Amino acid sequence: MTVSPLPPAVDTAASGERPATDGPSVDPFATFRPVLECAFELAAEYLASLATRPVSRRPSATEMAALLDEPLPEGGTDPTAALEEWLARAEPGIVASAGPRFFGFVNGGSTPAALGGDWLASAIDQNAGLWLSSPAAAQTELTVLRWLRELFGLPTEWVGALTSGATMANLIGLTAARQWAGERLGFDAATDGLAGRPPIPILSSTEIHASAVKALSTLGFGRNGVRKLPAADGAVDLDALDAALRHTDGPVIVVANAGEVNTGAFDPLEAIAERCARHPAGTWLHVDGAFGLFAALAPTHAHLVRGIERANSVAADGHKWLNVPYDCGFAFVRDATALRAAFTTGAAYLASDADAGWDPLTHVPEMSRRFRGLAAWCALKAAGRQGYRALVERCLANAAAFAGWVEATPEMELLAPASLNIVCFRYAPAGLDPAAADALNRAAVAGLQADGRAFVTGTVWGGHAAIRTAFDNWATSAADVTLLQEAITDIGERLRRGEMPTTGS
Ligand SMILES: Cc1ncc(COP(=O)(O)O)c(C=O)c1O
Repeated sequence: MTVSPLPPAVDTAASGERPATDGPSVDPFATFRPVLECAFELAAEYLASLATRPVSRRPSATEMAALLDEPLPEGGTDPTAALEEWLARAEPGIVASAGPRFFGFVNGGSTPAALGGDWLASAIDQNAGLWLSSPAAAQTELTVLRWLRELFGLPTEWVGALTSGATMANLIGLTAARQWAGERLGFDAATDGLAGRPPIPILSSTEIHASAVKALSTLGFGRNGVRKLPAADGAVDLDALDAALRHTDGPVIVVANAGEVNTGAFDPLEAIAERCARHPAGTWLHVDGAFGLFAALAPTHAHLVRGIERANSVAADGHKWLNVPYDCGFAFVRDATALRAAFTTGAAYLASDADAGWDPLTHVPEMSRRFRGLAAWCALKAAGRQGYRALVERCLANAAAFAGWVEATPEMELLAPASLNIVCFRYAPAGLDPAAADALNRAAVAGLQADGRAFVTGTVWGGHAAIRTAFDNWATSAADVTLLQEAITDIGERLRRGEMPTTGS
């Protein structure tokens, strides 16, 4: 039998691009080794550069298109040459978000163990949708879910699944919530939909994360389907929640934050759970703990998530503070029946044997899925509970040190208490009117991003343009925090001296 490796060999005489490699004696799988060795060399070199390379260069869309946009190639290219070419061409647009000086959004990097697991998962290429398609992937995921419950002190009987991130984890928790509410109201939401059914009230705060709103709109509740209660300083107003529950009939879905994205503020989960328990028609408490769930690992901060074990569902991220590569999140749900009713689907060709184990696709929106469990398994196995506690505590110490520096620095203002790993602040030089101060801070964010020493992102908090820094990368050191401070001081001075425009985005 003749087996041709892919991509098919091109006529080298005509194109000069690639030697012909097909022929009767070629083992197609032998061709992986040089490609993977090339990927390894490129990756190792890239990772070694993370400590010193510019975090970002902010190339324009036109510049990136000029580097990468081109028609579909007609002929093939040597795969190793393709890897090298892509890296060389894409280089200006690569953001070192896996590195220690990326403080934007809430990103996290990847521990060596997690990255190793992720690579192996790609090589083994399991479909983690069904037990039948990979008992290894399904059992690994079950073990990871057990470890995560144990790590965070969540009830052992909760069921869950790995997801592409907290957005999908929010979607899973809220889909189960919709199912539960429908059943209370006498209909099956997964089967019959919401049309013509009684409305399902949803309560949250003004600080509900955009991803939870996205999930609610995907589920047919509409972006306006959530009532946003006031949240001074980021935490929901309990009196407002009390009043809203008192004036709402029927089952209610409550969405709470464990770690609000701008400041890291926490809703008072225990008190919310108390109020939910008193609502006569029942409540489903969903907690978005994308990164805040990790407060449970530090004894000094665990009180922030006290009461989370009373929730009905919890969403969190793996690619943030667990430091596994994109993409990874996880959802936990107390009511396994509601979750399975929401996502179990029938197709004759997918039917499981009676003796088959867990089919992950009964717990998630997807059918075929990436084997995310291996990266998380390797990460948790390599670090253990103590390793993750140390990781979280180091990030908390970095955040506290940085917040202290902001408070001690003249003409800087801490906009909210740094209760966890997010620091929200702004330049506040005396004598600037509010519009000019906002322009200065927006320009500073753009300036810092282009500068490359440290990456921060902007937001609006308390009506002010603000800067936020998140500390959740396993490799960030105190020296990186010092560099961040130096970059902030330097950019601020250059803006004040008029050396940079203050009309930045
Ligand atoms: C509180 C919160 N919820 C949800 C998300 C969405 O997570 P992802 O982007 O992983 O889907 C984020 C992302 O920053 C977040 O901070």
